[in-house]
Amino acid sequence: MKTAITEMFGIQHPIIQGGMHYVGFAEMAAAVSNAGGLGIITGLTQGTPEKLANEIARCKDMTDKPFGVNLTILPTLTPPDYPGLVKAVIDGGVKVVETAGRNPVDLLPALKDAGIKVIHKCTSVRHSLKAQAIGCDAVSVDGFECGGHPGEDDVPNFILLPRAADELEIPFVSSGGMADGRSLVASLAMGAQGMNMGTRFIATKEAPVHENVKQAILAASELDTRLVMRPLRNTERVLNNAAVERLIIKEKELGDAITIQDILPEVAGVYPKIMMEGTMDAGAWSCGMVAGLIHDIPTCQELIDRIMLQAEEIIARMNAMARG
Ligand SMILES: Cc1cc2nc3c(=O)[nH]c(=O)nc-3n(C[C@H](O)[C@H](O)[C@H](O)COP(=O)(O)O)c2cc1C
Repeated sequence: MKTAITEMFGIQHPIIQGGMHYVGFAEMAAAVSNAGGLGIITGLTQGTPEKLANEIARCKDMTDKPFGVNLTILPTLTPPDYPGLVKAVIDGGVKVVETAGRNPVDLLPALKDAGIKVIHKCTSVRHSLKAQAIGCDAVSVDGFECGGHPGEDDVPNFILLPRAADELEIPFVSSGGMADGRSLVASLAMGAQGMNMGTRFIATKEAPVHENVKQAILAASELDTRLVMRPLRNTERVLNNAAVERLIIKEKELGDAITIQDILPEVAGVYPKIMMEGTMDAGAWSCGMVAGLIHDIPTCQELIDRIMLQAEEIIARMNAMARG
C-alpha cells in the first residue's frame, strides 16, 4: 500500500509506532521497522544526548530500515538538553523525528537543515494547522481515545480526522484507538494517509516491557482507562489501578487547589517500576481505550502483516459492494 506517508518515510506499510516512555527502546523500534512500519525510539526515556546516541546505534545494529526518534517537549522547570538530543539524532543519521507536546518550532531549523522529516503529534485541528504553518512535514492526529495525553478538547477521531482532512494540506496519520485493519481502512476513509499506534504495540512479543504490562492490557476492556490530571490541564489517559484510584480521590478532595506536588507519588518516576519491574500498581501509566480490542501478543511482523491483510480484504469487499 503506497500513501504519502509510506513515500515520505521510505517505509513499506503506513503504520507508525508512536513514541512511548520506557517502551520505545531500540528493540521496539527495530521490531516495528523490520516488520515494514516505522518504529520510534523515545528520546526522553534516554534523557541525555549520549544515551540517545547509544540507543540509536543499538537500533541501527538491529535494523537497516528507517526508524524515528520521538522528542516530547514538556513544560518542565529543568528542561532536558533538547539541542543536544537533536544533535544526537542528526549525528546518528536518523531521518524521521516525531515531535509531541509543546510547539516544536525551536527544534525545526536544525532538523530541517539536516534533511530530517518531522511529524508532529497533536490533538486538535488548531495545533495541526500550527504544525503545518511552522514547516512540519506531517501530523499525527491524536484523538480523545488515545493512550497518553489527549489534550483538553475531548474530540474523538470520528470527528477529528475528517476535520483535519478538511483543513490540512500536509499528510497526516490517525492516532488513538487504532488496532487492526479496520482501523487502518477507516483512517484512510477519513482522509489519513496511515495510522499511528501506541498501546497495541506494547502487547507484542518484542515490546521490551515486563510481561505483567502486556497481560494488564489483555485483561483490560475499553471501560478500564481513566483520565487523570485534568485539573492541572495536563490530562492523561491511564489504565485504572490502585494508584490511579488514589489519585482520583485526591483530585476530588482537593478540587482546583490541587498541585503536581499532591500527586507526585502516583505520577513521578513510576514508569521504570511499571514497565521494567512489572509492579503494576506503582503509579499511573498511559494506556488507550483500544485495550478493549487487544486480545493477544503477536510479534510485530505478525501484527503488521495481519493488519495489512485485513485492510486489503476490507477494501476488496467494499469494492465489490460498490460495484453492486
Ligand atoms: C505507555 C505509553 C507511553 C507513552 N509515552 C509517550 C511519550 O513519551 N511521548 C509521546 O509523544 N507519546 C507518548 N505516548 C502516546 C503514543 O505515542 C500514542 O500517541 C498513543 O499511544 C496513541 O494512542 P493508542 O494508545 O490508542 O494507540 C505514550 C503512550 C503509551 C501507551
